[in-house]
Amino acid sequence: MATTNNTLWSQFLKPVYQLLVDEKPLKDLYESTDWDRESDRLKNPNLVYPNYYSSQNFHGVNRGYLNPSAAVTYDSVTQYVLPPNETWIRQEAINAIGGRPRRILDLGCGTGSTTIMLKQAFPNAEVIGLDLSPYMLIMAERKARQAGLEIQWLHRKAEATSFPNNDFDLVTASLLFHETPPIISQQILQETFRILIPGGQVIILDGNQKTLRETSWLTEIFEEPYIRDYALGNVDAWLGATGFASIRTNDVWWTNQVSRGLKPLPIQNNVNHFDTEIDTLDSREVPAAI
Ligand SMILES: C[S@@+](CC[C@H](N)C(=O)[O-])C[C@H]1O[C@@H](n2cnc3c(N)ncnc32)[C@H](O)[C@@H]1O
Repeated sequence: MATTNNTLWSQFLKPVYQLLVDEKPLKDLYESTDWDRESDRLKNPNLVYPNYYSSQNFHGVNRGYLNPSAAVTYDSVTQYVLPPNETWIRQEAINAIGGRPRRILDLGCGTGSTTIMLKQAFPNAEVIGLDLSPYMLIMAERKARQAGLEIQWLHRKAEATSFPNNDFDLVTASLLFHETPPIISQQILQETFRILIPGGQVIILDGNQKTLRETSWLTEIFEEPYIRDYALGNVDAWLGATGFASIRTNDVWWTNQVSRGLKPLPIQNNVNHFDTEIDTLDSREVPAAI
């Protein structure tokens, strides 16, 4: 599988990864999959990859998520980068959801780990996973099929989804914003605001910006081209600037954070008709700077 050399990833994390992960089944999976045929089935012919996405390596993998190697190895790496437990961390995003959403969009769904948990939490909801990588979508589709879950997988851009206005009552993004330049993250939030119904909610799970600012060595090890800019930003402030209300960000252990915002109702200003528990959550001050 094609990876870059002489990087912190290859010098430090890759050897650790090789100790922890049995690579044989991953190699078999990689070699037994007809990536061209399967991705042709999912590929959106009108999609033009943005330069910030197609020109970068991520996690030491050449061409990042546009390389099937990234899709095959993603889950086995991710289980070790979400301590103390990947499922607990993802569950915090599910726990932050108020009410019972009926139409859910998971942006940058990757291999579908959070998307699948959303469908399991809300089995009657229509759930859609959207991603720029057809290879990640192949893996997501397989996992959902194995779990017996009906989820739609779309090859689209999170900042230009092509959905109509007011189409979803929940939009989520897990581990997406540290992968996109902050200007794109803010465009994604604007798109999210547009496609949410009034009263709809956005949930964002990602790296803890405060922790990342204090541990710059972490941002180097993971070989993420935009993570340092993400760490310097503030998801609360981005949500506020987009027009979301009732914004809350909670720490998830020291490594992650879950942010939540509501698209205000046009007449009943800031009435939260989803739940009441939001007021009992710890809140952070929303800084003025974006
Ligand atoms: C770190 S992975 C997170 C995957 C998944 N959400 C999770 O929680 O494991 C980031 C994903 O975002 C996708 N991505 C990055 N930029 C995107 C964009 N602008 N639109 C849609 N997907 C994007 C990548 O292809 C990748 O699958």
